[in-house]
Amino acid sequence: MRATAAVLLVLCLLTLSHAWDCQPVVDIKNLMQIDAGLGQVVATNTSQFPYYLVGDKWISLPGSLKHITVGPAGIWGVNKADSIYKYVAGNWVQAAGLLKQLDAGGDQFVVGANMNDTPYCLTSSATVGYKGPGSPIPWTGLPGAVKYYSCGPFGCWAVNKNDDIYLMSLNQDCQNNGWSRIDGKLSMIEVATDGSVFGVNSAGQVYTRDGITASKPQGTGWSNIPMCMQMKHVTYDLGRLWVISKSGFTMVCTH
Ligand SMILES: *[C@@H]1O[C@H](CO)[C@@H](O)[C@H](O)[C@H]1NC(C)=O
Repeated sequence: MRATAAVLLVLCLLTLSHAWDCQPVVDIKNLMQIDAGLGQVVATNTSQFPYYLVGDKWISLPGSLKHITVGPAGIWGVNKADSIYKYVAGNWVQAAGLLKQLDAGGDQFVVGANMNDTPYCLTSSATVGYKGPGSPIPWTGLPGAVKYYSCGPFGCWAVNKNDDIYLMSLNQDCQNNGWSRIDGKLSMIEVATDGSVFGVNSAGQVYTRDGITASKPQGTGWSNIPMCMQMKHVTYDLGRLWVISKSGFTMVCTH
């Protein structure tokens, strides 16, 4: 079985001759979700084990998490009960609240979505100093309903339960001017530290948003990034596009 899978993967990669060159990430299997930011890469596998990439080795982090994120606000995660944790001195300390997904890619603030798809934001003053129960944790509820939420330097992008795409400008104090609808449909979306945006639709196709700048945060349109398999998750940082296939392969692509 493993040999067949490896052959299929090689055939799949060979058939692609596009702008992005993808290589299998052989050291890790069955990833659920991955997040790259500020030069660091973290991931969880389908058994909810968290990982941190060092060299080409995936180092196990303590604890059990279904979603992990790294960015200017530090390393944060949520477990299967939606409890929220921050990585402090090699261990997870709990932060009050419940979220099913969260993102540390904003300007030192954290955003996330709870089980009812209500979006929340935690100010930079709260995230940076958070060192465990006892530190203030003033979650700010935001308007709208989103199932997946991610931030970068030019704004926060989210998708709702119908895979509709939205953009919000959010500052370090969680102040915002509400959501703007963006064309297209995606089931997950990630904003990179450099502001570029990548997502996956329900058919497993990967897209990136073109033309994003500080003065035009909504960009100009979507471009498909051809992949030889259906993907379930994507993240991008410093020239590397990390993709996880629906079948559980992880690839890293450059162009
Ligand atoms: C997830 O990682 C743990 C720890 O390395 C491992 O024991 C487990 O088998 C992995 N789960 C899957 C589905 O590969």
